[in-house]
Amino acid sequence: MRTDIVHSGAGELTYEIRNIVSVGEKLQQLGRKTYWENIGDPVAKGEKIPTWMKEIVAELVMEDATYGYSPTRGMLETRQFIAERRNSRGGAQIDANDILFFNGLGDAITKIFGFLRSTARVVVPTPSYTTHSSAEAAHAGDRPVTYILDPENNWYPDLDDLEKRIKYNPAVAGILIINPDNPTGAVYPEAILRGMIELARRYDLFVICDEVYHNIVYNGKKTVPISDIVGEVPAIAMRGISKEMPWPGSRCGWIEVYNGHRDPMFEKYVQSILNSKMVEVCSTTLPQRAYPRVVSHPEYGNYLAERVERYEKYSNIAYEALKDIDGVLVNRTNGAFYMSVAFQEGALTHGQILEIDNSQVRAEIERLVSPANVSLDKRFVYYLLGATGICVVPLSSFATSMQGFRITLLERDEATFRMIFQTIAENIRKYLASA
Ligand SMILES: Cc1ncc(COP(=O)(O)O)c(C=O)c1O
Repeated sequence: MRTDIVHSGAGELTYEIRNIVSVGEKLQQLGRKTYWENIGDPVAKGEKIPTWMKEIVAELVMEDATYGYSPTRGMLETRQFIAERRNSRGGAQIDANDILFFNGLGDAITKIFGFLRSTARVVVPTPSYTTHSSAEAAHAGDRPVTYILDPENNWYPDLDDLEKRIKYNPAVAGILIINPDNPTGAVYPEAILRGMIELARRYDLFVICDEVYHNIVYNGKKTVPISDIVGEVPAIAMRGISKEMPWPGSRCGWIEVYNGHRDPMFEKYVQSILNSKMVEVCSTTLPQRAYPRVVSHPEYGNYLAERVERYEKYSNIAYEALKDIDGVLVNRTNGAFYMSVAFQEGALTHGQILEIDNSQVRAEIERLVSPANVSLDKRFVYYLLGATGICVVPLSSFATSMQGFRITLLERDEATFRMIFQTIAENIRKYLASA
C-alpha cells in the first residue's frame, strides 16, 4: 500500500475471551472434552428462557410494527418507561430524550469512545472488561490509562491511585466505572462510588458507569445506581438486557445521560454520539418493544431472583474451592457472574507444566507455550485447557499486568460446577509445585 491503511489504534483491539475459543476448538478436534467457562453468555451455558418470556417475544413477532426501523434514539414508549422508572427512585431525573438505544452495549462502547476527541482520555479500571479498555485505547492510539482495582481489598477501586492518574494526566477527561464488575465480580459500596464521583466533580470530569449487571448482586451486598449519587456531574450510565433477561443475541442496550445540559462540551459530545447513531439509522426494534413487557411481567422478579440465588450459591462453592491455595489470591464474587483469580507475584514460572495424556494435545500445548513472549498466565491457561479441558481466560488479557485467570459461574449443573472448581484447585496446586 502506498499509504499506511492501518488505524493507529488497531493494535489495541484484542478480545482474548473469544480468541481462546479457537484453541479450545482445535483441542476438541484432537479428542479433548472441553468445558467452556470463558464467555459470559448465560444462554450458551444452558439458561432456560421461560415460556412466558418467549410468548411475549412470539406475540411481538406476529405484529408488523416489529419489522420496521425504530426511531434513532429508540422506541419512544420504551424510553418513557425507562425514564419513569429511573425518576421514581429520586436522584438524577431524565426524560425520554436522555436515553439512546444501541445494538448492544458493545455498540454503545465503540461509539462512546470512538467519538471522543483522540487526545481526551477516559481512565479505565485495571483489570478491565476488554471491550471498554480496547475501545478507549484504540480511540487514542495508545495504551489505556488505568486505575487499580485492588485484589487485596475485594477488588475495589483504589481511590488514591485513581486520583494520581487524574491529577498527573491532564488529558484525562472522564472516569469509567463498571459496577458490578467484569472481570472481578466485585460490587462497589456506595462510599467508594461517592468517592469516585467526588473526584470527577473536583477535577471537572465526566463519568461513564457500566451497570449492565446492576440487578445481579448477592451475598448480602448493596450498591446504588450512579443516578442516585451523581449530583451535578455529567454522566452516562449503560444498561442492557444481555445478562439480565438474558438475551445477548438480541443486541440491545442503552445509555442514560445525566446532567446532559449542564456542560456545553459534554452536551456537544452526547449530540455527536446521537448523530453517529442517526447516520447508522437506528438499533434493533424487537428487543426494545419486548423490554417493558418482560420486566413488568409478574413472573420476572421471581425468575431473576432464582438465577441470582444460584449465582450466590455457586460464588460460595467457587470461593471455598480456591481460597486456601498457596500462591493465589481470590475474592468471593458478589455480583455479575465472574471470578478473577490472581497468582501471587513470582508464583508462576516458565518451567511449570501439567501432565497431558493425549500426545497430540500435549504437542499442541507445547507449541502454543513455546514462544518466549507468552505471558505466564496464558501459559497456565493453555496447560489447564490441555490437561483438563477447562477453558478460562488469562487475567493479563484484561488490561492488567497481573497474572491470573477469569472464570464464569454460569455452569448450571451443580455437580459439574463443583467438579470444575475442584479440578482447577487440584491443577493449580500441581502446576505451582511442578517447578
Ligand atoms: C461490563 C460489560 N459491559 C458490556 C458488555 C457487553 O454487553 P452487550 O451484550 O450489550 O454488548 C459486557 C459483556 O460481557 C460486559 O461484561
